Order: sequence, then C-alpha cells, then structure tokens
Amino acid sequence: MKVVFIQPSYPVEQQEFTRGLAEVGATVIGVGSGPKAQQPARTLRYLSAWVDAGNLLDLDRAARTIASKVRGLGVDRVESLWEPTVELAAKVRELLGIPGMTVDTAIGFRDKQVMMERARAAGVRVPHSFRIRTAKEAWAAAERIGFPVILKPIAGAGSADTYRCDDADSFAQALALTRHVAEAVVAEFIDGEEFTCDCVVIDNTPVFESISQYFPRPLIARSEQWISPAQITFRDPYRPDLMGGIEMSRKVIAGLNLGTGFTHMEWYRTRKGEVVFGEIGARNGGGHLVDMMNWSNDFDVYREWARAVCWRSFEGEIGRKFFVGMVFKRALGNGRIKARLGVEEAAARCGRWLVSEQLLAVGTPRRDWKQTLVSDGFAAMRHPDEQAVKAMMDTWIRDVKLFAG
Ligand SMILES: Nc1ncnc2c1ncn2[C@@H]1O[C@H](COP(=O)(O)OP(=O)(O)OP(=O)(O)O)[C@@H](O)[C@H]1O
Ligand SMILES: [Mg+2]
Repeated sequence: MKVVFIQPSYPVEQQEFTRGLAEVGATVIGVGSGPKAQQPARTLRYLSAWVDAGNLLDLDRAARTIASKVRGLGVDRVESLWEPTVELAAKVRELLGIPGMTVDTAIGFRDKQVMMERARAAGVRVPHSFRIRTAKEAWAAAERIGFPVILKPIAGAGSADTYRCDDADSFAQALALTRHVAEAVVAEFIDGEEFTCDCVVIDNTPVFESISQYFPRPLIARSEQWISPAQITFRDPYRPDLMGGIEMSRKVIAGLNLGTGFTHMEWYRTRKGEVVFGEIGARNGGGHLVDMMNWSNDFDVYREWARAVCWRSFEGEIGRKFFVGMVFKRALGNGRIKARLGVEEAAARCGRWLVSEQLLAVGTPRRDWKQTLVSDGFAAMRHPDEQAVKAMMDTWIRDVKLFAG
C-alpha cells in the first residue's frame, strides 16, 4: 500500500495522521513545500520519500509536479486533510488515474455555494444564499434574502473576511472591507447554537461519528480578543437533542459523495430546535478536535482514519466514555508572556480529569489570536458527567489569565 500524503506536517495534527498511515502498513510518500530537511523529525520518521512540490496553492502546477514525480511508483492512494489541498489531491488522482474523490466532488466540499446547492439537493435545510462577484450582485442578494445576512468568501477558512450584517450600513461597510475577495457568498444569517459533526467514513457510510459544540459561535469568538473560546465533545452523539446533526451529516456525506475519509461538518440549532446546515469539509476539524475525539473514546482515530483510507476498515473501539472540554486562552497585553495567573489552582481543581495543559510558558512570544484558534495555548479536561466538565471549563475560562508585556 503506497500512499501519497500531501501536507504531512502542517497543521500539526497531520503528523499524527502520517504516523497512522505508517502504523497500518502504508509506505508514505510525503508531499509539501520546501526541502525534506525542513520537515519535523516527527514526520520524517514515517516517510519513505519526500516530494517538494513548490507552492501547493498553485493547484494545477503543483498537481503536475507531483504526478510527474510519483508516476510509475505504483501509488495506490493520494490523500490530504488540509482544506486548501483536498482539491490538489483530487487533481493528482485524476492525472494518475487513481481511485478516490474526483475534482468535481472535492469542489462540493470547498466552494460554499456549490456545497449549499448539493446539500439542499440531499434534502437538508440550508441557509438561503447567493454567489456574488460584484457589489451589484451583493446588494441584489441582500435584498432577496433580507437582513441580517452573512457575507463570507466562497472558499474561506478560520472565519476570515466573514461579516454579520444587520442592515444596509453594516453591509456597505463589510463590502468595502472585503473588496480584495474575488468571489463571496451572501447568506441568510442563522441565529442559533453552533455544533460540529465529525466522522470517519467508508464508502459514504460513517463508521465513527462525533459531535462537538463551540462556545461562543466562532464568528463571535474570532472578533473579540477578550473571549476564551471553548468547545465540548459530547460523550454520546446519539442523544435526542443532537440526532438532528447526525442525520444531517449522513445525508450530506452521501449527497456530496465523500467516499472514504474524514469529514468535519458544522451545523446550527436555532432556539426553536430547527437544525440548519453550516458547512462541510472533506478533512478533519482543526483546533485539537481530533484529540478531543481520542480523549472521549480512549482510542486512536488518527490511525483508524488511515486504516479506513488504506484498507476500508475501522478497528477502533469507540468507548463513548467522556465529555471532553477545551478552553483556549488569549493573553492580555502584547509581546511575551510575563505571568500566568490561576493555572496551578485550575489544574488542582481538575485533578486527574485534566488531560492536557499547553498554555504558553512565561517568556514565550504571544501568538496572533486572529490567525490561530489555539491562541496562547489551551487546557483540556474530561469527565463522564457533562456538568462536571462544564464546571471545569468555567474555571479555565474565568479564573485563568495570561499576561503579556
Ligand atoms: N449563514 C450563517 N448564519 C449564521 N452564522 C454564519 C453563517 N455562515 C457563517 N456563519 C458564521 O461564520 C463562521 C465562519 O463561517 P464558515 O464556517 O462558513 O466559514 P469558514 O471560515 O470556512 O469556517 P472555519 O472557521 O470553520 O474554517 C461560522 O462558524 C458562523 O459562526
Ligand atoms: Mg466553519
């Protein structure tokens, strides 16, 4: 089993998927941008070969480079779990005639308007939305939908260039701020709580399903620096109040024809209980969501994803043991971390239920909170009881403070 794996080192959890591939018996050819020597040792030990494909975002050129370098090596799979290179993997597959997701299918997981149309055709409730390229089209869309609307790039990530607009003035402002975005979507704004549904899928059938919730909604968390964003992975995703998300995910996976791989769907639940589609990626969720699935179930879903794509099988024992909470912290002030307040107390309060604490050490430069959800580090905790995990999360949200300066 020879697997070409694009982006085996970044984002950082991709190193674990690389390990998974090697552990299920694959020979892994890593593809990235830059020389092999620059790859972390963690990745290198699982790679049999390295292809420097230059700028991976130049999809057509990178696809030709990769195809020419691996043609004739007997490659069985081409995989990638980084949002911008999912389509690149599909292009390489098509050039080499390797089975797996096609370019047309990949576009359904990348282009938000195509995604919405295909999800609607699969029978799920999606926000009313339009693709727009000009200000004129944008205003026409807003008029048809009615305020509030959301304005976001056609292929965005990390809530970049995404705005909630409550009236014509804020819409005009958002359009001015996003003039550099060539193509965007104007969509009905859905007021509600925001969840994910994350799955490992074999031949369009999920073999593992997990639900998490974001606190607060990502768009809010990413616009206010003082917030400590948090997320919880539910112990049992088949709870009646979460089943709407599970059912939606199953329909969308089949309707968009994922095939085999990881999916990360986001969905909204309104106050009235209506379940509305947000988006879906043919990749794992970021921000340590995969680690949370592992802590919740006491298994190794990195390796089981690899087993699924290589061998169409899943052998993980899905424990459903714990709720897992994660709290991301952002320091007050700029520069280097100079003090950490309340960390020891919060850790003591969690005791053995604290599974990881990776807040930046004193002296470390702050990270750019707009660029990374992980911000200046995180704490993760688990417990069989939901209220217990939420109480621990509250402690990290309220009582822990990082200072920089
Ligand atoms: N139709 C909508 N109604 C309400 N909120 C929305 C809508 N579309 C997007 N949002 C908000 O904007 C955020 C970012 O949008 P979306 O998830 O579509 O883009 P993204 O940038 O690809 O996401 P990610 O942050 O997951 O990479 C969502 O998490 C949600 O909070
Ligand atoms: Mg999103």
